[in-house]
Amino acid sequence: MTQDKVLCDIGFIGLGVMGKNLVLNLADNGYNIAAFDLSDEKVQGAIAQDLSENSSGSPRVHGCSSYTELLSQLKAPHLIVLSVPAGAPVDQVCENLIGAGIQPDDIIIDTGNSLWVDTVAREEKYKSNFLLFSSAVSGGEVGARFGPSLMPSGSPYAWARVKPIWEAIAAKVDSKTGKPLERTKPGEVITEGEPCAAYIGPAGAGHYVKMVHNGIEYADMQIICEAYHVLQSGLNLSCDEIADIFETWNNGPLDSYLMEISVEVLRHKSSDTNTPLVELILDKAGQKGTGLWTAMSSLEVGCPAPTIAQAVYARSISSFKDLRAQSAQKLHGPEQNSLSKDEQQQLIEQLHDAMYCAKLCAYAQGFQLMKLAGKEHGWTLDFASIAKIWRAGCIIRATFLQSITNAYERNQDLENLLLDDFFAEQLSQRQLNWRKAICQATMQGIPTGALSSALSYYDSMRAETLPANLLQGQRDFFGAHTFERIDKSPGKKYHVEWSTPARATISIDG
Ligand code: 6PG
Repeated sequence: MTQDKVLCDIGFIGLGVMGKNLVLNLADNGYNIAAFDLSDEKVQGAIAQDLSENSSGSPRVHGCSSYTELLSQLKAPHLIVLSVPAGAPVDQVCENLIGAGIQPDDIIIDTGNSLWVDTVAREEKYKSNFLLFSSAVSGGEVGARFGPSLMPSGSPYAWARVKPIWEAIAAKVDSKTGKPLERTKPGEVITEGEPCAAYIGPAGAGHYVKMVHNGIEYADMQIICEAYHVLQSGLNLSCDEIADIFETWNNGPLDSYLMEISVEVLRHKSSDTNTPLVELILDKAGQKGTGLWTAMSSLEVGCPAPTIAQAVYARSISSFKDLRAQSAQKLHGPEQNSLSKDEQQQLIEQLHDAMYCAKLCAYAQGFQLMKLAGKEHGWTLDFASIAKIWRAGCIIRATFLQSITNAYERNQDLENLLLDDFFAEQLSQRQLNWRKAICQATMQGIPTGALSSALSYYDSMRAETLPANLLQGQRDFFGAHTFERIDKSPGKKYHVEWSTPARATISIDG
């Protein structure tokens, strides 16, 4: 008697760190996986790890050595998850799957950090071959293993099929407290709580939202780094002392995963020198591009996001290590004033508020950017739901996200987060400390690009009058670009012959 072949639920391509951990997460949640990678070593590694972590003793991960074998191992219609680098590799895998016989009702889910316009183009390009669905994943390797934040988008038909799987593997939040429900052991599964996976919108919307998540991540990281810089260079505190301060702050409104890991990084000692490892790390920041994409998109959409852009610039400036070292010999800063004990304590308190306010501005910029982009591309984005799925699993997870969720639940049409009553009150209470922290840092010659660009954003957003009147005058002077007048009908355009004796004002359209 022949035994029926047991087919797998999900095909998985790309077994790097993220891919392997997503596979094990899927397996913990009861799904059998047919796994393929160009490297057979990685396939064998995933199988071995599954066997070592899986108490049932029967394999949940089945290795495949080709795309054709992968399809033959799967239940139809096929569901295949990709975890391959963004860009050309995604197209390469799609083409290979077409070659292997993928069908129009099969679903491919791209979980990488693809550029959102590429996703839109791919969905169109491959629509007669298969359904391309996308779901950006945030949370790094631990998130992938024990519960990431997932930002799915694409065909609603595909989402109906993917939803139960995604809700099972996603991070979960306690619905009463809004706090993450921790899952840290292989084999552990959390079935209660709110899953950090929500349908974002049509093709491209999910990758756009993930891109903005990363832009906020850049800003959030830079804000923490600037606070560290002020505490280290301005107050001469040790890494352990700074870690203690950050740890205390992490019990209040600044509580976040990025603060938590910063404490760990600051406390870590190099095994060979037994000194803080962070002081031995070369101060040149890397970047893969998602922060840059966010900044570029903000310029294209016309949405001010200076703190996010500044965080990208801060990484760029850091990369000019040799030039900075040269300039340090030639360019002078202010005289160093030593601060009294009281002033030092005050600066620490001021920095706390500066971080809170700057972080809020970075989120305000990111959410406004999603709102404007959503309008431009016809996506109906649900901001309370986006804030909710960022409360756990992702890199920017923080207590703060519950306050943002509340703000959008109070008013889903909120123009800008700064205008929410709760946040407006927070800003008014903390803004003086924010200003003082920046003044102190500036007088010490310590750069605070993110903290101060956020303050400038705040002051610009609350300024009823800005000097753009003079700017319009300049434009009209050299280029006859015209201007409107506040004492005349809106929309009416004027031009002046600025240098002629008569200085005649000419109305252009009326
Ligand atoms: C996440 C991270 C993840 C990745 C970044 C790092 O949400 O899990 O954002 O996507 O770590 O791409 O980006 P950089 O290398 O540009 O810092």
